[in-house]
Amino acid sequence: MNRTRRGEGHPVAQRRIDAFRRRSRLALSLAASALIVAGCSTAPSSLDPRGPAAAEIADLWWLMFWLAAVLFVATLAVLFYGLWRARRRQVDHPPPLSDRTLVVVGGVAIPAVALLIVLVFSVRTGTGLSPTANPSALTVEVIGHQFWWEVRYPEQEVVTANEIHIPVGTPVQLRLTSVDVIHSFWVPQLHGKMDLIPGKTNSFWIEAAEAGVYRGICAEFCGIQHARMQFLVLAEPADQFSEWLAAQQQPAMQASDPVLQRGLAVFFEADCAACHTIRGISMTEATGEVGPDLTHFGSRRTIAAATLENTRGNLGGWVLNPQEIKPGNRMPPTTLDTESFHALLTYLQSLK
Ligand code: CUA
Repeated sequence: MNRTRRGEGHPVAQRRIDAFRRRSRLALSLAASALIVAGCSTAPSSLDPRGPAAAEIADLWWLMFWLAAVLFVATLAVLFYGLWRARRRQVDHPPPLSDRTLVVVGGVAIPAVALLIVLVFSVRTGTGLSPTANPSALTVEVIGHQFWWEVRYPEQEVVTANEIHIPVGTPVQLRLTSVDVIHSFWVPQLHGKMDLIPGKTNSFWIEAAEAGVYRGICAEFCGIQHARMQFLVLAEPADQFSEWLAAQQQPAMQASDPVLQRGLAVFFEADCAACHTIRGISMTEATGEVGPDLTHFGSRRTIAAATLENTRGNLGGWVLNPQEIKPGNRMPPTTLDTESFHALLTYLQSLK
């Protein structure tokens, strides 16, 4: 502790310093709150729906909000009327409503009507959320892992991670499960939540009314990196989606030049292949299933489950020390000499 600070010990000066410190602390906490609020405004909001299911849910939310707002204001009005009567000493005059009427109307009739309205609209929304089964719909399997999302298109034999491409304006059937603990799939702008439960497959669906990138999050606490278990839904026009799907069906790009070949060799030397799959490479198979399939890794927008943008710098930091970025994830740190490290990054980025 610095004991030679100016003014230390003098009572008036000390009070000023204390007041200054209090003000600084207040300013800091206000700034922090402002940052948190600003952060919230960029988070995906279920009140900004971009799909039919999310729109139904948002409508129900607004109905409940306005109903509650009207009843809250009405209750306050009755309260203030009572206070006003008490101040004006009008308590001796009979009130406009008898106690009995007040209890029957305010305590039974109005709540019953309000709850009935909410019940009717909830049931209506609930039925609107279950689409009629469509056997020809595109099916996507989403498998929860601590702390990332495996994404499979079983009929097309496509496997990717943390990124779900869907054609815009079409309901897509989802089959959700988990390999470890319970996770919950939530794309606030497209639909409500659905749990991923180990040993069970839940059916769900999503549909985007307009093309765009929608952030999804894990909505069930699943461990220390729960908050960084996110993903993206990319809703694309039909032709763009088919193009993407066709590209993902291809085996990995062959390592055509010496740097890429060196990168591929490092991938095996550093034991990356023990946990990750790269489909269609000519060397020994890389078929690990602990971490994400990397066959078309370079085509993805993010790494570490939508935690970081998929840039060379972020990828380098992740490969060297993933525990620094997401403590508790299952990827170990990697020690490599500079040349091998850069060759590996170049190779991984080439996997478009
Ligand atoms: Cu997965 Cu929370």
